[in-house]
Amino acid sequence: MPGFPRFRISDIYEQTTVAQVVYESTMDSTSDRARRLVEESERRNESLETPLLVLADRQTAGRGRGENAWWSGSGALTFSLVLREPLGQMPLSDWPKLSITTALAVLETLAADVSPRRLELRWPNDVYADGRKIAGILPEVVSRKSGALLVLGIGLNVNNRRDSAPEPLRREITSWADLTGRTADTTGVLIRLLEAIRHQFARLASRDPMLVDEWNQWLRLHGRQLSLESAGQRFTGTCSGIDSAGRLLLQVGSQLRPFHSAVNVRPID
Ligand code: BTN
Repeated sequence: MPGFPRFRISDIYEQTTVAQVVYESTMDSTSDRARRLVEESERRNESLETPLLVLADRQTAGRGRGENAWWSGSGALTFSLVLREPLGQMPLSDWPKLSITTALAVLETLAADVSPRRLELRWPNDVYADGRKIAGILPEVVSRKSGALLVLGIGLNVNNRRDSAPEPLRREITSWADLTGRTADTTGVLIRLLEAIRHQFARLASRDPMLVDEWNQWLRLHGRQLSLESAGQRFTGTCSGIDSAGRLLLQVGSQLRPFHSAVNVRPID
């Protein structure tokens, strides 16, 4: 593969708390690869060093939520992080907070180079810039006898340009390079993002009461008419923010409904 290695792995070891990096030019999906590594370690009765970073320059079968594929053109950042914490101490009902807290880390990383006014959290697991998707987050849990692990898959459009995306994606996405007009040091972006995840997850684990305010500051949908699909049903209503459990609140008629998970969340006004 031309340009391999694209990432400075020694910098990742030196500048983050990542314990192990598996990096290849091409993988099917970093999340599938991470899951197989977890399963193999369990079969062989070997301990797995975490945080484990599974990183690829290119994915041939990148996955999004549900049945969606994840397109990542050349220059994109695609990785999965295997974490023992914070699942260990977290009740199941808190798991929706994982993707919004990861989104917070992505937003913080982008805000170093892009005006925060251009950025927003699209609950539950997307980050948008100028109304276009720039990052997607896929948190998955792998159960093992010795305790569940979190596989946090992240796709961030960094140096892949919108113009190189296939239709109709071209009209729906953007990238760091599109927004800034510059080419980013992808290793630098990855290191900042890994550190931001570590910091935000520590806040989640310590139940930092300010987190809910920050989720809501990045959610630019308050008071707007939204439509979403949950449990196979479509709902429309007025967005009332995110509650402390990480649920999206929608005023539907006279009822304030909390949504634990949903797909196709869109403003319709
Ligand atoms: C979504 O927006 O639906 C989530 C997209 C998550 C994409 C990332 S790219 C790295 C990791 N590997 C995958 O196959 N998917 C996630």
